[in-house]
Amino acid sequence: MVELELSDKEFKSFRDLIAERAGIYFEPSKQDLLRTNLLQRMEDCGLSNFADYFQLLSSPAGTKEFDHLLNLIIIPETYFFRDQAQFRALEHFIIPEILKNESDSGSSLRIWSAGCSTGEEPYTIALIVAAGMVGVKYPSVQILATDVSNAALEAARRGVYGARSVRDVPKEYLNRFFSKKRDKHFLDESIKQMVEFSYFNLVTEPYPLLEMSGWDIIFCRNVTIYFQPESTKKVIHNFYQSLRQGGYLFAGYSESLRYLSDEFSTVQVGGTFVYKKEPQDKRGKKKARRTRRNRGRQRTPASGRSRRLGALPDRKVDEIQQICARAKELLEMGKPEQAGDLLAPYLEKSTASESVLLLQAEIFLNQGDLENAVQLCQRIISCEPLSVAGYYLLAVVYRTWEKERKAIEEFKRVLYLKPEHALARFNLGDLYSQVGQLDEAKLEYANVVRLLREVPDVFDERLAGGFSPTLLIDTCLSRIKELDKSE
Ligand SMILES: C[S@@+](CC[C@H](N)C(=O)[O-])C[C@H]1O[C@@H](n2cnc3c(N)ncnc32)[C@H](O)[C@@H]1O
Repeated sequence: MVELELSDKEFKSFRDLIAERAGIYFEPSKQDLLRTNLLQRMEDCGLSNFADYFQLLSSPAGTKEFDHLLNLIIIPETYFFRDQAQFRALEHFIIPEILKNESDSGSSLRIWSAGCSTGEEPYTIALIVAAGMVGVKYPSVQILATDVSNAALEAARRGVYGARSVRDVPKEYLNRFFSKKRDKHFLDESIKQMVEFSYFNLVTEPYPLLEMSGWDIIFCRNVTIYFQPESTKKVIHNFYQSLRQGGYLFAGYSESLRYLSDEFSTVQVGGTFVYKKEPQDKRGKKKARRTRRNRGRQRTPASGRSRRLGALPDRKVDEIQQICARAKELLEMGKPEQAGDLLAPYLEKSTASESVLLLQAEIFLNQGDLENAVQLCQRIISCEPLSVAGYYLLAVVYRTWEKERKAIEEFKRVLYLKPEHALARFNLGDLYSQVGQLDEAKLEYANVVRLLREVPDVFDERLAGGFSPTLLIDTCLSRIKELDKSE
């Protein structure tokens, strides 16, 4: 590859072009990465300076070349039934709920896969819909799939896939809806016809709400990870406007909407999280509840404490905090039995607080009583569906139990709720290497390094098993190197 300097001015021109066309924003720290990508593409195009390549990209003939560049910048990784829990939720809960409501209004089921890449995601939706149609009265179904990469859209329309793409397709679907020739899997025409593919840039302004409205369900997974938070906020708001009341948004597991939107409700469905546009009457109630809560907050200084598990007077809350602090000390001193004895009186069903239950679950884990640890974590989660600590501990228990797949699912839930959870990402990195998903492993280790460098205070030393942030960064870097070598 030719060695060329990318001047600041050139960097800004490319950066702005890419941001405008695809919403992907290169921070100044990524200048070198962009330069490498550009040089690689220039070599393939036989060009020897950045100005010529910029001209090519800006010309009408440059759209195809832009797709190639995009494929270098983003990881267009996708596969059928990616994140199975979400598709289970779609099949068993979300579609039935929408169909039930639709049958009252008698209209259609409309699903949009935004950022569909080479089609695996919208075709998975089509497979689920097609399989469910037998014996069920379906309204008319529309599945729209959009992307900014024309190359990806062309591949999607062909509907021909390699083994990697279909690795998670259940056998009955594979036999029924694909035919295999040599090492390629050809998707059945009946499924291909269910999906309409179209070019659409999610960061287009002004957003064409009129054409893009009335969706029951929107999938937008692993797309906004490349956007700036400001662009993501706009995109999420647009989705909100595009959905019908009671509609759902599926996001990728590292794309929590927590800090990006307060319009959606987070709901747990069939073991995964989805975002719901509440119907108007419920929204009114939610708003009223929020206002009441805020009013309450002004009056009670202790209102920041979680009260959902046990509604306790402040005196009791302080007592529990002291007991928990002492129990933690005992646990750290290697005395789990004594810690358990101390907590025992506070474990009664009606008043047990989240922190007491978490500590008791940690004690079970410490004593190797994994079944009870799992049960207790599940109790915490059923009372506090957004408990990051509950999911994290459950994941750690499964990892200790060597139930890798379950541990992966739970760590992913932690990231839904708290994408900057470095330790969950580190664990995911290890688990992915264990199960042979090496690209995912590298990505998670790299995420840990980035997070700990950008926001070192997100680190919780107590849960880190002896790792300091610096040691964790070094460990991740050396694991990435090892994985690179093993490929
Ligand atoms: C990693 S793939 C995700 C595919 C699929 N949603 C999944 O989760 O398996 C990301 C896709 O987002 C598309 N993309 C990136 N920026 C976009 C934009 N501004 N508008 C629409 N699609 C975009 C990319 O072209 C790529 O195909």
